Amino acid sequence: AADCFQRGLLSGRHVLINAGPTREAIDPVRYISNHSSGKMGFALAEAAAEAGARVTLIAGPVNLPTPTRVQRVDVVSAQDMLEACQAALPADLFIASAAVADYRPDTCAEQKLKKTPGSDDGMTLRLIRNPDILATLATGAQRPRCCVGFAAETQDVLGYARDKLQRKNLDLIIANDVSQSGIGFNSDDNAVTLIDQQLTTTTLPQASKQKLARDIISRLAALLDQQDS
Ligand code: CTP
Ligand code: CA
Repeated sequence: AADCFQRGLLSGRHVLINAGPTREAIDPVRYISNHSSGKMGFALAEAAAEAGARVTLIAGPVNLPTPTRVQRVDVVSAQDMLEACQAALPADLFIASAAVADYRPDTCAEQKLKKTPGSDDGMTLRLIRNPDILATLATGAQRPRCCVGFAAETQDVLGYARDKLQRKNLDLIIANDVSQSGIGFNSDDNAVTLIDQQLTTTTLPQASKQKLARDIISRLAALLDQQDS
């Protein structure tokens, strides 16, 4: 039955997953972040552990319990998340579900920023690019054999997703249309389309993130077995 799902499918594998948002400090009390809940990544970690994998979950600031038998490492910024992911290598499978902030303030002010007294002026923050965690791991010397990305898009979902699959050297990308309400970011349900290296697309219709996670993990276990043979 669905309950004794895939027991052992991932036994002997080390699965590395990152999840949630990152926070990029502006000053001691302020930051830039996004609305990622981390739910999809935590559901994937739970499903991978149920399938018998050793699971390392690198989590940005989220409000979620740690799944059973999952080793969780909490981080804050994109740079911390990159270092924690690298420290967890080697891994057989890397799933990058984190909503990594693309930019960070070029410096973090040491003291709380103050408005200029007597002025109604606006203010400008200078932002610089964060490292691309997924591309770094997927092109690195210790590349996990199977690297999987997510692509949250609001338009031309499959086009942008295919582009990321190729540009970041991935085995699979999971495309996510975040313009639809009720699914994706911060919701309990999701609907995704998988695109592999042959550009074959597989659509998994709207379901709970738990159900989707199990489906995705079964497919990734099959992909790893296929790479073995
Ligand atoms: N990603 C990452 N490090 C970043 C940015 C993104 O590891 N600095 C990963 C995400 O975890 C995801 C994939 O790359 O698995 C795609 O993220 P997305 O934000 O959709 O793509 P970007 O490459 O950042 O492009 P853009 O935001 O401009 O669409
Ligand atoms: Ca991005």
